[in-house]
Parts: sequence; structure tokens; C-alpha cells
Amino acid sequence: MTDNRLIVALDFHHIDDVKRLVNDLGDSVSYYKVGMELFYSVGAEVVDFLKDNGKNIFLDLKLHDIPNTVAGGLCSLMNLGANILNIHAGGGYTMMKTAADRLKAEAKLLKIERPKLIAVTVLTSINQEDWEGLGYQSQMKGQVVRLAKLAQKAGLDGVVASPQEAKAIRESCGDDFLIVTPGVRPAGAAINDQSRIATPAQALANGATHLVVGRPIIAAENPKEAALSIIKEMNSPHVLDK
Ligand code: C5P
Repeated sequence: MTDNRLIVALDFHHIDDVKRLVNDLGDSVSYYKVGMELFYSVGAEVVDFLKDNGKNIFLDLKLHDIPNTVAGGLCSLMNLGANILNIHAGGGYTMMKTAADRLKAEAKLLKIERPKLIAVTVLTSINQEDWEGLGYQSQMKGQVVRLAKLAQKAGLDGVVASPQEAKAIRESCGDDFLIVTPGVRPAGAAINDQSRIATPAQALANGATHLVVGRPIIAAENPKEAALSIIKEMNSPHVLDK
């Protein structure tokens, strides 16, 4: 059993750890997230390895710079062949629009399939104290929705957001919008450094299209069992009824 909506975060330094986990998980997991920890140490080799094994890839490098630099960086990353790339919505409308437009134009020019481009709204680790420390007066949820709408207006395909905010985003941005939610914890699992969390079932019921799960699977004693139990929960009638 597999479920393309489950994305397992490969938060490792070494390619050997990746190979061991991907091998252990086998057909149960078809989508993986490569973040900065892994990409900065291994580079394109990990993307090639995952593609050779028929896996989908979310390359989670969260670009945040001036519009021209982000657009150029994304065009370079597109050549690696990941399915999803991302940038920080905090870079603003012009940065997001320039990035989305350049990626579309470059994919057309090269006659390759364009990866989906999504924006990070507010990191799921940010709690109320962090939020206030950043000087924000507004409610965090309102800001998340505002950034999601801005990303949609700029031509992005979706956002990364906390499962707790997925519902408000779905209501504001409509059905045709990816909502990728980290901060997913099965009942009873360790929260670690996440703050705004939900169970897999809650995240889907709130409108998430993809769930990113790291430590509850990759640090489990039996990762395959942990993945299958999450997939089972994602497909339980309780979730489908919602
Ligand atoms: O181990 P855990 O399930 O907390 O891993 C979550 C993954 O999702 C990590 O790779 C983290 O970098 C990523 N992420 C996140 N919050 C975001 C965007 C990505 O936790 N807003």
C-alpha cells in the first residue's frame, strides 16, 4: 500500500542513510522531501538516486532572495527534475511573480515539464512567542492566509503551511491549490520542535493535499510500519467522510 499524498522528509546528512531508508520503506512510500541538510551535503546525487528508483521529489530549499536571484536559482534547480520546488512567500509578490513567470517560460523553452512551485507561508515551528518577537501585531493565521492569497495571485501552485491553517487557506484559495503540511504527528508521537501540529487525519480533513512527515517515520524503530500506519490513518473511512 502506498499513498502519493504522503511525503517523507529525508532529514539526513549522508546518502547511505537515504539509501537504507528508501530501501526499507520500499513501495510503501512514493514521495520524498529533500531539504537543505541533505542537499547541501550530497547535492544532485540524491535527486538522481530517487528518480532512478521511480520516486517523486519535493526539493525543499526554501529560496528567499531578490526576484532575479530566486528566479535564476529555480531555473537551475528545475534541471535536476524534482516535482515540487519552493520559495518563501515573505520574499513578496514581485519575487514570487518573477519566479513563477521565469520558471514557466524556461520550462516552455526547454520543452520540459515544469515542477510545481509552492510558497512557505509561516514556518510550522513558529509559536506565538516567536511571532511576537518578530514584531507582528496581526494574528498569525490571518498572515498565513494573506501570504497564501498573495502566492496564488503571483501564479504559484500552492503553499507549505501548518495543518492547523489548512482549512482557512482552502476556504480562501479554492480547490485548485496545493496545501503541503509539515507539522504532522500521529496521536501519541513526539512533537519535537514543531508547534502548530495535527494528526494525519486532521490535516487531510482540514484540506491538506500532501502531508510531510519526518521524524515519526525516519526515526521510528520500524519506519515501514510507521509509514503504513500513517497511510492507513490517511485512508480511514473517518477521513474520507469529512
Ligand atoms: O521531523 P518532522 O516531521 O518535524 O519534519 C518536518 C519537515 O518539514 C522538516 O524537513 C522541516 O524542515 C520541514 N518543514 C517544516 N515547516 C515548514 C516547511 C518545512 O517543518 N513550514
